Amino acid sequence: MFLPSGSGQQALHPLKPAPWADLKVGGPRRLLLLCSQRLDKERQQLPVWSARERLVELVRDNQVLVVIGETGSGKTTQIPRFLYDAGLAKGGAVACTQPRRVAAVTVAQRVADEMGTDLGAKVGYSIRFDDRTSGATRIKYLTDGMLLREALVDPLLQRYKVVVLDEAHERTVATDVLFGLLKAVCRQRPADFRLVVMSATLDAAAFTRYFEGAQAAYVEGRQFPVQVMYTAVSEDSYQDAAITAALQVHCEEGPGDILVFLTGQDEIESCERLISEAAAALPPDPDRPQLAVLPMYAALPPEAQLRVFQPAPPNTRKVILSTNIAETSITISGVRYVIDTGFVKSRSYSPRLGADCLQVTPVSQAQARQRSGRAGREAPGKAFRLYTEASFQQLPPTTLPEIQRTNLASVPHLPAPACPLQLKALGVADVVGFDFMDPPPRAALLRSLELLLALGALDARGDLTQPVGAQLARLPVEPMYGKVLLASGEMGCSVEAVAVVAMVSTDVVFHLPRGKREEAVEAHQQFRCREGDHLTLLAVFRAYSDVSRKGHERSHWCRAHFVNPRAMRKAMDIHSQLKEHLQALGIPLVSCGEDTRVLRRALVAGLFPHAARRQLDGSYKVIASGQAVAIHPSSVLRAQNAKPECIVFNELVRTTRQYARDAVVVEPSWLPELAPAYFARQHANQQHNGGA
Ligand code: CDP
Ligand code: MG
Repeated sequence: MFLPSGSGQQALHPLKPAPWADLKVGGPRRLLLLCSQRLDKERQQLPVWSARERLVELVRDNQVLVVIGETGSGKTTQIPRFLYDAGLAKGGAVACTQPRRVAAVTVAQRVADEMGTDLGAKVGYSIRFDDRTSGATRIKYLTDGMLLREALVDPLLQRYKVVVLDEAHERTVATDVLFGLLKAVCRQRPADFRLVVMSATLDAAAFTRYFEGAQAAYVEGRQFPVQVMYTAVSEDSYQDAAITAALQVHCEEGPGDILVFLTGQDEIESCERLISEAAAALPPDPDRPQLAVLPMYAALPPEAQLRVFQPAPPNTRKVILSTNIAETSITISGVRYVIDTGFVKSRSYSPRLGADCLQVTPVSQAQARQRSGRAGREAPGKAFRLYTEASFQQLPPTTLPEIQRTNLASVPHLPAPACPLQLKALGVADVVGFDFMDPPPRAALLRSLELLLALGALDARGDLTQPVGAQLARLPVEPMYGKVLLASGEMGCSVEAVAVVAMVSTDVVFHLPRGKREEAVEAHQQFRCREGDHLTLLAVFRAYSDVSRKGHERSHWCRAHFVNPRAMRKAMDIHSQLKEHLQALGIPLVSCGEDTRVLRRALVAGLFPHAARRQLDGSYKVIASGQAVAIHPSSVLRAQNAKPECIVFNELVRTTRQYARDAVVVEPSWLPELAPAYFARQHANQQHNGGA
C-alpha cells in the first residue's frame, strides 16, 4: 500500500532520546511538591532549557524577539516562566496567547503543576466565558481573542510587561490583528514592553520583516528521522484508508502509538467505532498488543482530553484520532507512527455562497510536514500519507492566513469576533489601510464593513456608532448575535434571547449515542418546537433550569433526556456572563413569556443576513447571495418535514451540499421591516442583475 518517499524526507537533527515521564496532570495537593520536583527534571531535558539564559538576554536587549522551535521543544510551557523568573515581568505580568482554548487551559495547568502552585494563583488562564486568574496571576495563558478583548479597555496593555504571541504560524485572524496592535504598543512603550513571537515553522523572515529590527532565535529541536510513505495510488475515501492504515500499522509495525489526523468530531467518532470493531475481529495473535482508540478534538470533555496524554497501559498500543489540534498545539508522548489523511476542516469564505463555511480542504505541504514530524519526537518514526507523492507536490506550500480566507465580519469562536469592528472600536479609523502583516483581501474587508453597516454598528462615514457599534464590540459574541441581544432588549424578549444565544454558543446539546438513537430521539421529542431550532433549544434551557441544582439532579435529568450535561453547564455559564454584559450595557432583562413571535423577530433583527426563502420547487435560497441551501438534517424543521416560506439560520455548513444549521421560521414581511436598508439594497441589486 505504501511507498517510501523518493525525496528522502528525513528530518533534521537525530539527537539522543530523552526519558519520558508519565506524569498525570494535577495530583492531590500534598503531592504537588514531589510532582514539581519530578517535573523540574523533565523541564531540564527540554531543548529550550539550555537556551534559557541566552533567550532571557535576547529579550532584555531586543524589544521584539522571534523564537522559532520545533513543536515539543518547550517554548509554550517554559519561555513565559523563564521571562518571569528573570524578573522581566516586574510590576506587571507575562501574557502568552494561544489560538486554541484547549491549549491555553492544558498548558496553564501544566505550568501551574511545574511551579507547584494552584491554577488561578500565580499561573492562570483566560478564555472566552472562563477566567481562571486572580490578582496574584503573573503568568497568564489566554486565547488571542481574549487579549484583543482586553485591548479594548486597555489599548496599551499596560498590565503586561511582556506579551508572548504563541503559535504565530497559525496566523489566526486574532493573532494577525494583534500583530498590528502590538506593533503600535511597542512604539508607544519602548522602555517597558517586550514582545516575543513564537512559531513552529522555520520562516522567521516574514515576522522579522514586519517587526522591523526584530531579532530571531532558533531553538534546536529534538527530532528523529521520520520515514515518509505515500500511497501508491489515490484512495477513494480517506476515512476508509485511515482505518485500513491504522490496522496495517498495528499488525505490521513495532511498538509505538499511532496518531491519525482526521478532520472533525463526526468523522473521528465513526472511525473510532470502526477501528475498534475491526481490531476486535482480527485473528488472535498473542504477540500483538491490545489496541486502545482515543479521540481528540476541541469539543471533547476535558477529562477525555487528558486521557490522550496518559501513557498506554502495558501491552497496549494507543491510536489517537485527532483533528489538527495535535499538529502543533499539543504534544502527545509515545507516538511513533503518524497517519495523515491530508485533509483539514477549516473555515473559509466561499465567494460562491457569499458566506463563510466549514469545509474539508487539503492541507498545505507545511502542515503535512508538521504532521509527519509528530512521529519523530522521541525516536525514529514513520509517517503514512494517504495520498500519492504526486498529490503532495501539488499541495500549496503553506496555509493561507485565516485573515485572507474568511469573512471578517464573523470569525466564530473569537471573543472579539469582528476584526474590523474590533479595529474600529480600538480607534483605527482606516481599517482598509491598517498595518496588517498580510492584508486581507480588500473585498472581504469591504464586505465585512458592509455587514457592520447593515447591523448599524457603523454609520455611513464608517465610524463606530454610539451606542450600537460600541455595544456590539463589547459583547463577547458575533456581531449578528450581539444585534439579536440588543434588539431583544427593545422588543421585550431579552430573557429568552440571552438563553438562546447561550444555547447556540455552547457545544452540541442533543446526545445521540450509538445503539440508543431511537430512544434518544424519542426523549428529545418533548423539546421539539415546530417554529425551529432556536425555540427548541430554548425549551431545553428552560426545562434544565427548572431542575434543582441540588445533588446530582441535573446530571440525572441530562442522562434521562439524552442531553449533553457539559454543554448545559457551559450554556448556563455563558448565560450568566451574557446577563452581566447586558446589565453592564444597561439593557433591560424582560421576558416575552410564550409569545415566540417577539423572539423570532429579535432573531431576524440580527440574523437577517442569513435569511433564506423557499423557492417554487421547495428548495431554499439565501436571499443575500442567491445561493441554494438545504435545511440541516439535524434541524427540527427537517424532522417535521416543514417547509416554511422563510427562515433565518445561524450558519452554513458545507459537507456534500450546503446546509443551513439551526434554523427558525420567520415571516417574510419582517425582513424589510426590521432591516429596511439591507433589503432595499438587496432588492435593487437583484433588479440590477436581472435576478428574481
Ligand atoms: O511549545 P512547544 O511545542 O515548543 O512545547 P511545550 O508545549 O512547551 O511542551 C513541552 C513539553 O511539555 C512536551 O514534551 C509536552 O509533552 C509537555 N507537556 C505536557 O506534558 N502536558 C501539557 N499539558 C503540555 C506540555
Ligand atoms: Mg507550543
